[in-house]
Amino acid sequence: MWKPPQRIDFRPTRGRIPTRAEAAASRLFSPVALGPISLAQRTWVPAMVPWRATEDGFVTEAVLDWYARFARGEPGAIVIEATGIRDVPSGPLLRIGHDRFIPGLAKLVETVRRESRGRTKLLIQVLDFLAIRRRPDADKFLDRFLAITDAHRKALAMPTATEAEIRARLATLAPADLARILAPRELEALRYGARERVTDTHLAHIRDLPRVLPETFAAAARRARAAGFDGVELHYAHAYTMASFLSATNTREDGYGTTIEGRLRLPLEVYAAVRAETGRDIALGCRFLAEECIPGGTQLPDAVQFGLAFARAGMDFLSTSRGGKFDDAKQPGIGEAAYPYTGPSGYECMPHHLSDERGPFGRNAAPTASIRAAIRAAGLETPVVCTGGIHNFETAERMLAEGVCDIAGAARQALADPDWTRKTALGLGAQVRLCEYTNYCEGLDQKHKTVTCKLWDRVGLDDPAVKRTADGKRRMTAPDWSPPAAA
Ligand SMILES: Cc1cc2nc3c(=O)[nH]c(=O)nc-3n(C[C@H](O)[C@H](O)[C@H](O)COP(=O)(O)O)c2cc1C
Ligand code: SF4
Repeated sequence: MWKPPQRIDFRPTRGRIPTRAEAAASRLFSPVALGPISLAQRTWVPAMVPWRATEDGFVTEAVLDWYARFARGEPGAIVIEATGIRDVPSGPLLRIGHDRFIPGLAKLVETVRRESRGRTKLLIQVLDFLAIRRRPDADKFLDRFLAITDAHRKALAMPTATEAEIRARLATLAPADLARILAPRELEALRYGARERVTDTHLAHIRDLPRVLPETFAAAARRARAAGFDGVELHYAHAYTMASFLSATNTREDGYGTTIEGRLRLPLEVYAAVRAETGRDIALGCRFLAEECIPGGTQLPDAVQFGLAFARAGMDFLSTSRGGKFDDAKQPGIGEAAYPYTGPSGYECMPHHLSDERGPFGRNAAPTASIRAAIRAAGLETPVVCTGGIHNFETAERMLAEGVCDIAGAARQALADPDWTRKTALGLGAQVRLCEYTNYCEGLDQKHKTVTCKLWDRVGLDDPAVKRTADGKRRMTAPDWSPPAAA
C-alpha cells in the first residue's frame, strides 16, 4: 500500500477509559433510531470482506463463524461485507443475485441474532461492480488481446499493413514508443489490465446500467428482507459502479452524469426502486464518499449535496467513507488485477500507522461533520455514521458530542478485538486489544486471502479445536473472551 512520504509513526492509545457507570451514561452507549429500527448503542462494524464465501458466492461455516465472533461483542450494528447483486461468478465474494442465496443468508441472520443475544442489528451492504481484467503478459496482449485499428497503422506509418504485420511491429517497440502509439485506454489495458467505466456508453451493457440497476438492486434488497436482515446499505462508495456514477469523473451525457443532478440521478433512482420493493420496515441507507481523494475527483461540496439529496429522499442512515479508487491504484503484477486500496486514495480509505501530519485517526471526521451539519441545517435528522481510525471510547464519544456523527464505525479495531465495545461498556477498557493499523489484514484482503488479524491469528494454534486457514498457519477468528464473573 502507498504511504505518505512523511512516514510519521502514530500509535493508537486507549484514551480515557470510562467506568461502567460512565459508559452507561455516555452517548456512545445510548440508543439511536435508524428509520424503523433502533440500535441499542451507537457502535457500528462497517462492511469488511473476509473472503470466506464459496467460489459461487454462498455463505459458509467460515462466514457464519466470522460474523458470530463480531456478534459476541454485541455492537449496535454489523454491516455484512459487500455482497454482489448480480448472478454472475465473482469468486469467494458473497452474492445475493438469486433466491438460492436466501437460505444461507437467513442462517447468517439467525447466527448473529443468537450470538449477540438479540442486541445487534444486522445490515447487508449490496454492491454492483464493473468488469476488470488482470494485467496481461505484454507479449500476449500485443499478439492477441489488442484490437488492431487504423489508428495503429497510421501511428506506425504502415497504412496498408496486415493485422499480423502491425502486431509484429508493435512487439519490437520499446515501452516509451508503445506509449506513443497506443491510445490511453489501450495503454492502461496493457499496464494495469482493461477496466470498464460507467462512461463506456459505446458498450450496450454500460449504456443500459440506468435501466438495469434499479431493478437489480431492488431484487437484491427484497432477498435481504426475505432473509431477515434489519437493513440494507447501498454501496455507493469506493471504486464501484454507483460511486462511479456519483464521481466528478462521470462525464456521461445521457442525463446520468456531468452535472450534480445527473450524477445523483441513478443513485436516487436505485434508492427509490429499492424502497418501493422493501417498504419502510427495514432500514435503508447508503455508504458514500465524503471525498474521492483523486485528482479531478469529487470534493466535499459535492458530497454535501449528495448527503442532502439522500437525506431528503428519505434514507434512514448515511455512512461515509473516503477514497479507495482504481484511478490511482498501483500497477499490479502480471496476472494480477489492480486493487483500489493501493494508491493515495486507498490510503485515505484505510490509513496505515505511518502517516503524514494529519495522522491515520479521524481523517474523515471534518468532512463528515460538514455533511451532517448541512443535513441538520435542512431540518433533517438522518443519522450519520463516520468511520476511519476510531479505536477508543474517548475519540468516539468526542465525535458524537461534537456533532461529527451519530454513530461511530470501527472496522479494523473491531477485527483486532471484536469485544472492544463490550469491554468498554463493562468498564474494562484496559483489556481492549488495540488495532495497530499495520494493514496486515488489508494485505490479505488485497490478495483475496482469508482475512485475519496479526494480533491474534497465531494464538492457540496448538489447540485442536481452533479452526485454521487452509494452509493451517492462522486461526480464523479472534480468541473468545468472557467478562470476569464480577463484571
Ligand atoms: C479487510 C477489509 C475489508 C473491507 N471491505 C469493505 C467492504 O466490503 N465494503 C466497504 O464499504 N468497506 C470495506 N472496508 C473498509 C472499512 O469498512 C473501513 O471503511 C476502513 O477500514 C476504515 O475504517 P477503520 O479505520 O475503522 O478500519 C474494508 C476494510 C478492510 C480492512
Ligand atoms: S491486522 Fe489487526 S492490528 Fe493490523 S491493521 Fe488489521 S486489524 Fe489492525
